[in-house]
Amino acid sequence: MSKVKAAVFASGTGSNFQAMLDEDDFPCEIVLLVSDQEQAGVLKKAMQHGIETFVFSAKDYESKEAYEAEIAEQLKRKGIEWVFLAGYMRLIGPTLLQAYEGKIVNIHPSYLPAFPGKDAIGQAFEAGVRQTGVTVHFIDEGMDTGPIIRQEAVSILANDTKETLQKRIQKVEHRLYPQVIRELIQK
Ligand code: GAR
Repeated sequence: MSKVKAAVFASGTGSNFQAMLDEDDFPCEIVLLVSDQEQAGVLKKAMQHGIETFVFSAKDYESKEAYEAEIAEQLKRKGIEWVFLAGYMRLIGPTLLQAYEGKIVNIHPSYLPAFPGKDAIGQAFEAGVRQTGVTVHFIDEGMDTGPIIRQEAVSILANDTKETLQKRIQKVEHRLYPQVIRELIQK
């Protein structure tokens, strides 16, 4: 069976991107890595795996619409069907949402709707709650507000530091995200 073509958008280290690449018999082929950060660690990972990258700087464009139109064109040109956000720290605008309706998925390190936005792990840790989690959801115009596909709770232990909590959350992410992607693609 031929694999479904996908793009990953990432701004950071790329451990979730790496988790997808490490899967056996993953049903999609990641053919493009899009990043808004020239120095992002994820770019090195893409290069090591021979995956094409598209790196842009938002300030070089006059609008979100302008850079998203260019991204959408690249995605279509490569026959990409799905977009997976993995630590992409920008809101997706109407241009990409319309081009890929129902095909853009995000992972967020909290049990949404709790702790949306930046530093969700730090937010949960500072709030002193006993439980946080991981959410995989479809993207809409809002900040981490799209329809939820799957969630998993992660306990915050009495002796946790932000770092130990982050490690446990990321371990869940690296298992959950590829699993949900498999299910979405095989539907
Ligand atoms: C992940 O924990 C992901 O859930 C989070 O960024 C991290 C990226 O790590 N995303 C968000 O906070 C989106 N709002 P990675 O670069 O090692 O995959």
